[in-house]
Amino acid sequence: MDTVVSGIRSTGNLHLGNYFGAIKNFLKMQKENNCYFFIADYHALTTHPHPDDLHGNIKQVLAEYLACGIDPETATIFIQSDVPEVSELYLLMNMNAYVGELERTASFKEKVRKQPDNINAGLLTYPVLMAADIIIHKANKVPVGKDQEQHLEMARRFARRFNTMYGVDYFPEPDAYNFGKQLVKIPGLDGSGKMGKSEGNGIFLADTPQEIRKKVMRAVTDTGPEKPHQTPSEPVKNLFTLMSVVSEPETVKFFKDKHANCEIRYGDMKKQLAEDIVKFTEPIRERIIEIHSDNKYLAKVAAEGAEKARASASKTIREVRKIIGYRPFA
Ligand code: TRP
Repeated sequence: MDTVVSGIRSTGNLHLGNYFGAIKNFLKMQKENNCYFFIADYHALTTHPHPDDLHGNIKQVLAEYLACGIDPETATIFIQSDVPEVSELYLLMNMNAYVGELERTASFKEKVRKQPDNINAGLLTYPVLMAADIIIHKANKVPVGKDQEQHLEMARRFARRFNTMYGVDYFPEPDAYNFGKQLVKIPGLDGSGKMGKSEGNGIFLADTPQEIRKKVMRAVTDTGPEKPHQTPSEPVKNLFTLMSVVSEPETVKFFKDKHANCEIRYGDMKKQLAEDIVKFTEPIRERIIEIHSDNKYLAKVAAEGAEKARASASKTIREVRKIIGYRPFA
């Protein structure tokens, strides 16, 4: 049985991209592995140092995870900041992470461009904290998307370096959890690129049916195919991709054939797509509302998750301290 760790940033509501790109796989994984899923609320501060409603965001994301079917009885679901042990490991790992390699990280360079007024040390050491998240549970598998591959590579390097530095075989080098073809990249509704929280092109699991219909009807398309069997343009291909995850295969085929025959009416396709998205998200949305209003349940889940995560993390910290050479006076 593998030990799996994965974190999601707490800086926004979950959208269809999160669901089909990650959560759907978590649901499968949690049955077969020892899973630790957490809300990365320390990491959130690297980009949102003064969030309007940190607690509210965490609560929402937790409720959404649970509504999707992450099962706290099976997996360990917790909030990163409830496990302060990770900050100690982060500190220790920072001592053998080099500024040069951190500065060369793609995500850091991107943030330097995106938020030039707040290039904080937390951004620079983001991969160190992420490595600590992973290795503190001695995970050997991490489900990651393309954008996190370099971070995972760094986690492997930091784990290896620790082992070499102290002459131990302590931390496993975590591998990417491979989903094969099941990893679907969900595009946004704006014609190009993937669905994102900040891009304003997303459909959120908590969106109402009215909001979903409005967003889908406004999605970018084109002026229609000009000749039979033309390859759909990027925006239209994106709608087909969305359709392929929420609609019946026959529905997708129906509209693909229409497109191939130049008979497609994008309005009809969008109407169908909107209804199929609503059909998919509506039960989840109802559960989100229900769970979100149940503070007692959320408190219990968070407390039990923290307890399980801390048991595993504090064992690692004890052992790491010993390996490095910290010990009590005898
Ligand atoms: N960096 C990840 C992201 O942006 C979130 C994350 C933090 C994470 N710590 C992690 C993912 C540990 C996997 C394992 O999506």
